[in-house]
Amino acid sequence: MRQVIDRLPGSKIREVANAGLGRPDVLPFWFGESDEPTPTFIRDAAVRSLNDGETFYAHNLGLPALREALSAYVSSLHRPVVADRIAVTSSGVNALMLAMQALAGPGDEVVAVVPVWPNLTAQPAILGASVKRVSLKVVQGAWQLDLAALLDAVTTKTTVLLVNAPNNPTGWTLTRAEQQAILAHCRRTGTWIVADEVYERVYFKPDAHCAPSFGETGRLAAPSFLDIAESDDRLVVAHSFSKSFLMTGWRLGWLVLPPGLVEAMGKLIEFNTSCAPVFVQRAGLAALAGAADFVPGLVERLRHCRDTLLPQLAALPGVQVATPEGGMYAFFRVEGQDDSLAFAKRLVTEAGLGLAPGAAFGNEAEGWLRWCFASHDPGRLTQGVERLRSFLGL
Ligand SMILES: Cc1ncc(COP(=O)(O)O)c(C=O)c1O
Repeated sequence: MRQVIDRLPGSKIREVANAGLGRPDVLPFWFGESDEPTPTFIRDAAVRSLNDGETFYAHNLGLPALREALSAYVSSLHRPVVADRIAVTSSGVNALMLAMQALAGPGDEVVAVVPVWPNLTAQPAILGASVKRVSLKVVQGAWQLDLAALLDAVTTKTTVLLVNAPNNPTGWTLTRAEQQAILAHCRRTGTWIVADEVYERVYFKPDAHCAPSFGETGRLAAPSFLDIAESDDRLVVAHSFSKSFLMTGWRLGWLVLPPGLVEAMGKLIEFNTSCAPVFVQRAGLAALAGAADFVPGLVERLRHCRDTLLPQLAALPGVQVATPEGGMYAFFRVEGQDDSLAFAKRLVTEAGLGLAPGAAFGNEAEGWLRWCFASHDPGRLTQGVERLRSFLGL
């Protein structure tokens, strides 16, 4: 086996979850998904497709109808993107891996803004690239970008800049001004930007400095590189159906690519998965057709979850936390608890509270905990806070 694979760290979130999976008394907030199932109108489309016998291989880059629908959807939120620039993938994580395979290999330098969902930094490492980490900084409990440090880190030797905003786990979101500075800098250094924007719709903070994009009424998204980039910029944007449509188990995502990368991406998809399953793509088509009716309501429910959890957490003595602008996570630390893995394991076994340890997202986040607040029942969040309070003896 290649040494790099042997040395890959196991998931610390799994390590905590394994201590509590199957225990009905545990409140699980450790994984990045809602406890609400996929809406029926989406599931029905997949069932219809299966009943119609759509069980065969399909186009590498996705069903033409889905690429067209994605083009219309993306263009309704951002600058126009033609269907030819879209590749349908088998999940967001697959989209990110394909982007990395296309761009980075042994000898290449990838700069990553961290802390971040660990898959993002593992992928270039698996491919043999080196990863330089640039950490967000904590200012009054909120994680913020040190733009100067990031621009210093990205040089003509940097092949790819990897940035996830809205960010998992911190909730940090890029401002328009930061995006502009990053894009201008990467144009100068010749660096590719791989932007993970899977949480773009899970965005709560429309305000002037972020200049969020408004498409048709009710369709709000976080600032995106697709609002400012030209089609031939070195920019690849990774997306997913998982978060905005409650479709984590379906494994469906997409990439927005510059025209020059599309043909190569078709080949890479052939050699990775060949295509996304047709019935899953039909579900994706239904999701997009219902997006204007479904997504704003989901975001409102998530906002309610956020606004239920955050004030209660913030009110606990010794807890440091900031209200996230996007994403579905509260990221917080408890005074005196510096070993996040040990703390998260004790919370599961002794308090029945399942959270993700900050260390899972990099050493920069050691001492922090991630709490996924996406739930059909915000009462469970209040119950969770009570468990934390009593565990801490408050
Ligand atoms: C930042 C980030 N990017 C990408 C993904 C991938 O989502 P999926 O593979 O379910 O589409 C996730 C999932 O948690 C994520 O948090």
